[in-house]
Amino acid sequence: MTTSTVDCWLLRATGDLDDSTLSSAERQRADAMRSAAAGRRYVSGRVAVRQVLGERLGLPPADVPIERADGRIHLVDRPDCHVGLSHAEDLVAVAVSADGSVGIDVEASERSGEGVPAVAMTPQKVVATAVLVGDRLAPLGVWVAQEAALKADGIGLSFPLSEVTLDPLNGGLVVRLGKRSVWGVTLRVVADAVVAVAAAGPPPVLHCCVVTQAGHHLAATGSNPGA
Ligand SMILES: CC(C)(COP(=O)(O)OP(=O)(O)OC[C@H]1O[C@@H](n2cnc3c(N)ncnc32)[C@H](O)[C@@H]1OP(=O)(O)O)[C@@H](O)C(=O)NCCC(=O)NCCS
Repeated sequence: MTTSTVDCWLLRATGDLDDSTLSSAERQRADAMRSAAAGRRYVSGRVAVRQVLGERLGLPPADVPIERADGRIHLVDRPDCHVGLSHAEDLVAVAVSADGSVGIDVEASERSGEGVPAVAMTPQKVVATAVLVGDRLAPLGVWVAQEAALKADGIGLSFPLSEVTLDPLNGGLVVRLGKRSVWGVTLRVVADAVVAVAAAGPPPVLHCCVVTQAGHHLAATGSNPGA
């Protein structure tokens, strides 16, 4: 199976967020969220996705044809453009690939491993991941790698974590969701965050761009530390 390529952006959503690019349905959804923090998190994700996809597709962000199905983001009439999204506090991670389904998960690296459910962890998984991100970040690395694979599949956390296996492969990881599906996962520590990206086949090649502020022009602030 060929190796997928995934473009990946990491944005920080601090200060006032301009939600003028969101659709009215998205604004209603944000207003209906259980807390202001959840609403802000949702808005920051939509601002970032519209910004990234607008630049990629040559469309104003407000015109990006986003639809939500089964919890995840799809683009109307663009089966060649697969999108993944994750938030962690003020960080937003967006993944885009033409090569098939993609999953992304991000956590702030200061979290290290606290709060990660024990059922998600085995000593073997931690050792396999420590080789890639070091001992301190290994438990967090296991968590984001598994969650990225669960998102690429689309099942999310409905799948029992005890049935997820994780092994080293080609400088990354292979994550198996029982007999259901298999994903290559690439892990990166970028700008105080641990990011995992899952795609079909071997661990994907990442083109990774760090952007300081959601809402700014991407090319103006981008760098390419993870390529
Ligand atoms: C998808 C899921 C893993 C997200 O976990 P999280 O760490 O809380 O949140 P993240 O910020 O990393 O990711 C959220 C984004 O993932 C995407 N997403 C949601 N469900 C998804 C799914 N089933 N597959 C792929 N992506 C999904 C969405 O784009 C979402 O952001 P949005 O709601 O702003 O559009 C989790 O919410 C989940 O599994 N949901 C579906 C199953 C479920 O509800 N199970 C009960 C929970 S125990």
